[in-house]
Amino acid sequence: ARLVVLISGSGSNLQALLDACEDPAYGAQVVAVGADRDGIAGLERAAAAGVPSFVHKVKDHAERADWDRALTASVAQYQPDLVVSAGFLKLVGDDFLGSFGDRYINTHNALLPAFPGIHGPRDALEYGVKVAGATLFFVDGGVDTGPIIGQVVVPVEDDDTEETLTERIKEVERRQLVEWVGRLVRNGWTITGRKVMTK
Ligand code: GRF
Repeated sequence: ARLVVLISGSGSNLQALLDACEDPAYGAQVVAVGADRDGIAGLERAAAAGVPSFVHKVKDHAERADWDRALTASVAQYQPDLVVSAGFLKLVGDDFLGSFGDRYINTHNALLPAFPGIHGPRDALEYGVKVAGATLFFVDGGVDTGPIIGQVVVPVEDDDTEETLTERIKEVERRQLVEWVGRLVRNGWTITGRKVMTK
Protein backbone atom coordinates (compact mmCIF):
# COMPACT_ATOMS: atom_id res chain seq x y z
CA ALA A 1 0.00 0.00 0.00
CA ARG A 2 1.06 3.54 -0.69
CA LEU A 3 1.37 6.05 2.15
CA VAL A 4 1.75 9.80 1.90
CA VAL A 5 2.78 11.33 5.24
CA LEU A 6 2.16 15.01 6.09
CA ILE A 7 4.39 16.68 8.69
CA SER A 8 5.22 20.05 10.26
CA GLY A 9 7.98 19.18 12.69
CA SER A 10 10.55 16.74 13.94
CA GLY A 11 8.98 13.79 12.16
CA SER A 12 9.51 11.16 14.84
CA ASN A 13 6.18 9.58 13.90
CA LEU A 14 7.24 9.65 10.24
CA GLN A 15 10.49 7.93 11.21
CA ALA A 16 8.61 5.19 13.00
CA LEU A 17 6.59 4.57 9.83
CA LEU A 18 9.71 4.64 7.63
CA ASP A 19 11.34 2.07 9.92
CA ALA A 20 8.27 -0.17 9.92
CA CYS A 21 8.05 -0.03 6.11
CA GLU A 22 11.49 -1.60 5.82
CA ASP A 23 9.85 -4.94 6.63
CA PRO A 24 8.05 -6.16 3.48
CA ALA A 25 5.54 -7.98 5.70
CA TYR A 26 4.36 -4.60 6.99
CA GLY A 27 2.62 -4.08 3.67
CA ALA A 28 3.21 -0.36 3.13
CA GLN A 29 5.66 2.10 1.63
CA VAL A 30 6.00 5.82 2.30
CA VAL A 31 5.87 7.10 -1.30
CA ALA A 32 6.04 10.81 -0.44
CA VAL A 33 6.24 13.26 2.46
CA GLY A 34 4.46 16.61 2.39
CA ALA A 35 5.00 19.62 4.66
CA ASP A 36 3.63 23.11 5.25
CA ARG A 37 7.06 24.62 6.00
CA ASP A 38 10.69 23.95 5.22
CA GLY A 39 13.70 23.67 7.47
CA ILE A 40 12.15 20.94 9.61
CA ALA A 41 13.90 17.76 10.70
CA GLY A 42 11.12 15.62 9.27
CA LEU A 43 12.06 16.63 5.73
CA GLU A 44 15.65 15.56 6.40
CA ARG A 45 14.35 12.19 7.56
CA ALA A 46 12.45 11.82 4.27
CA ALA A 47 15.55 12.72 2.25
CA ALA A 48 17.71 10.31 4.27
CA ALA A 49 15.23 7.53 3.47
CA GLY A 50 15.24 8.45 -0.22
CA VAL A 51 11.57 9.46 -0.12
CA PRO A 52 10.49 12.43 -2.29
CA SER A 53 8.95 15.40 -0.52
CA PHE A 54 7.02 18.57 -1.32
CA VAL A 55 6.31 21.76 0.63
CA HIS A 56 3.26 23.99 0.34
CA LYS A 57 3.19 27.07 2.56
CA VAL A 58 -0.13 28.76 3.22
CA LYS A 59 1.49 32.18 2.92
CA ASP A 60 2.60 31.49 -0.65
CA HIS A 61 -1.04 31.42 -1.75
CA ALA A 62 -3.51 34.29 -2.04
CA GLU A 63 -6.35 32.20 -0.64
CA ARG A 64 -6.35 29.33 1.79
CA ALA A 65 -8.40 27.35 -0.75
CA ASP A 66 -5.57 27.73 -3.27
CA TRP A 67 -3.15 26.23 -0.79
CA ASP A 68 -5.59 23.39 -0.18
CA ARG A 69 -5.85 22.72 -3.92
CA ALA A 70 -2.06 22.72 -4.31
CA LEU A 71 -1.68 20.31 -1.41
CA THR A 72 -4.42 18.07 -2.80
CA ALA A 73 -2.80 17.99 -6.24
CA SER A 74 0.62 17.07 -4.84
CA VAL A 75 -0.79 14.30 -2.67
CA ALA A 76 -2.95 13.00 -5.54
CA GLN A 77 0.11 12.71 -7.74
CA TYR A 78 1.36 9.90 -5.49
CA GLN A 79 -1.96 7.99 -5.54
CA PRO A 80 -1.97 7.12 -1.84
CA ASP A 81 -4.06 4.37 -0.30
CA LEU A 82 -3.74 6.16 3.02
CA VAL A 83 -2.68 9.71 3.91
CA VAL A 84 -1.20 10.09 7.38
CA SER A 85 -1.06 13.40 9.21
CA ALA A 86 1.82 12.93 11.66
CA GLY A 87 2.26 16.22 13.46
CA PHE A 88 0.89 18.18 10.49
CA LEU A 89 -0.27 21.45 12.01
CA LYS A 90 -2.71 22.57 9.33
CA LEU A 91 -6.40 21.96 8.87
CA VAL A 92 -7.05 20.83 5.33
CA GLY A 93 -10.01 22.18 3.36
CA ASP A 94 -12.90 20.91 1.27
CA ASP A 95 -10.81 20.04 -1.75
CA PHE A 96 -8.49 17.83 0.24
CA LEU A 97 -11.29 16.16 2.17
CA GLY A 98 -13.23 15.66 -1.06
CA SER A 99 -10.31 13.69 -2.47
CA PHE A 100 -8.93 11.93 0.62
CA GLY A 101 -11.59 12.28 3.34
CA ASP A 102 -12.18 8.53 3.30
CA ARG A 103 -8.48 7.73 3.88
CA TYR A 104 -6.93 10.60 5.79
CA ILE A 105 -5.89 9.82 9.35
CA ASN A 106 -4.34 11.95 12.08
CA THR A 107 -2.64 11.23 15.37
CA HIS A 108 -3.38 13.56 18.28
CA ASN A 109 -1.52 13.63 21.58
CA ALA A 110 -4.55 13.58 23.86
CA LEU A 111 -7.45 11.28 24.65
CA LEU A 112 -10.17 12.76 22.44
CA PRO A 113 -12.75 14.15 22.73
CA ALA A 114 -10.85 15.78 25.61
CA PHE A 115 -8.15 18.32 24.82
CA PRO A 116 -8.32 18.85 21.05
CA GLY A 117 -6.05 21.44 19.44
CA ILE A 118 -2.32 22.00 19.50
CA HIS A 119 -1.66 21.89 23.28
CA GLY A 120 -3.07 18.50 24.22
CA PRO A 121 -0.51 17.51 26.89
CA ARG A 122 -0.40 21.01 28.41
CA ASP A 123 -4.18 21.23 28.58
CA ALA A 124 -4.39 17.76 30.15
CA LEU A 125 -1.83 18.73 32.82
CA GLU A 126 -3.60 21.97 33.60
CA TYR A 127 -6.91 20.17 33.95
CA GLY A 128 -5.36 17.72 36.39
CA VAL A 129 -6.35 14.46 34.71
CA LYS A 130 -4.56 11.33 35.94
CA VAL A 131 -4.29 9.57 32.59
CA ALA A 132 -3.38 11.00 29.21
CA GLY A 133 -2.55 9.46 25.86
CA ALA A 134 -2.94 9.57 22.11
CA THR A 135 -5.81 9.15 19.68
CA LEU A 136 -5.67 7.99 16.08
CA PHE A 137 -8.69 9.02 14.02
CA PHE A 138 -10.07 9.64 10.55
CA VAL A 139 -10.07 13.37 9.84
CA ASP A 140 -13.38 15.10 9.16
CA GLY A 141 -14.15 18.79 8.78
CA GLY A 142 -13.69 19.60 12.48
CA VAL A 143 -10.71 20.06 14.78
CA ASP A 144 -9.80 16.59 16.10
CA THR A 145 -13.41 15.42 15.84
CA GLY A 146 -13.40 12.50 13.37
CA PRO A 147 -14.18 8.79 13.91
CA ILE A 148 -11.70 7.20 16.31
CA ILE A 149 -9.51 4.30 15.19
CA GLY A 150 -7.51 3.68 18.36
CA GLN A 151 -6.47 5.18 21.67
CA VAL A 152 -3.56 4.48 23.97
CA VAL A 153 -3.22 5.58 27.59
CA VAL A 154 -0.29 6.62 29.81
CA PRO A 155 -0.32 7.74 33.46
CA VAL A 156 0.15 11.37 34.41
CA GLU A 157 2.80 11.56 37.16
CA ASP A 158 2.70 14.10 39.99
CA ASP A 159 5.97 15.68 38.93
CA ASP A 160 5.20 15.80 35.21
CA THR A 161 6.01 18.89 33.19
CA GLU A 162 4.58 19.56 29.76
CA GLU A 163 7.82 18.15 28.33
CA THR A 164 7.90 14.90 30.30
CA LEU A 165 4.24 14.15 29.65
CA THR A 166 4.60 15.02 25.96
CA GLU A 167 7.51 12.58 25.64
CA ARG A 168 5.71 9.79 27.50
CA ILE A 169 2.73 10.20 25.16
CA LYS A 170 4.87 10.32 22.02
CA GLU A 171 6.44 6.97 22.77
CA VAL A 172 3.14 5.10 22.86
CA GLU A 173 1.68 7.30 20.12
CA ARG A 174 4.36 6.15 17.66
CA ARG A 175 3.73 2.51 18.44
CA GLN A 176 -0.02 2.93 18.06
CA LEU A 177 0.42 4.69 14.72
CA VAL A 178 2.67 2.00 13.31
CA GLU A 179 0.43 -0.81 14.53
CA TRP A 180 -2.78 0.70 13.16
CA VAL A 181 -1.44 1.88 9.82
CA GLY A 182 -0.26 -1.68 9.24
CA ARG A 183 -3.63 -3.15 10.17
CA LEU A 184 -5.54 -0.66 8.03
CA VAL A 185 -3.49 -1.20 4.90
CA ARG A 186 -3.35 -4.98 5.27
CA ASN A 187 -7.00 -5.54 6.19
CA GLY A 188 -8.92 -2.55 4.84
CA TRP A 189 -11.54 -0.75 6.92
CA THR A 190 -15.12 0.41 7.06
CA ILE A 191 -16.53 3.51 8.71
CA THR A 192 -20.19 3.34 9.73
CA GLY A 193 -21.29 6.56 11.37
CA ARG A 194 -18.58 7.11 13.97
CA LYS A 195 -17.60 3.47 14.18
CA VAL A 196 -14.37 2.36 12.53
CA MET A 197 -13.80 -1.33 11.93
CA THR A 198 -11.03 -3.20 10.17
CA LYS A 199 -12.31 -5.81 7.79
C1 GRF B 1 2.71 14.30 17.85
O1 GRF B 1 2.78 14.05 19.24
C2 GRF B 1 1.36 14.82 17.48
O2 GRF B 1 0.32 14.26 18.22
C3 GRF B 1 1.53 16.28 17.78
O3 GRF B 1 2.81 16.58 17.33
C4 GRF B 1 3.63 15.44 17.48
C5 GRF B 1 4.38 15.19 16.20
O4 GRF B 1 5.70 14.92 16.45
N1 GRF B 1 0.49 17.07 17.16
P1 GRF B 1 6.69 14.43 15.32
O5 GRF B 1 6.86 15.56 14.32
O6 GRF B 1 6.12 13.19 14.68
O7 GRF B 1 7.97 14.14 16.04
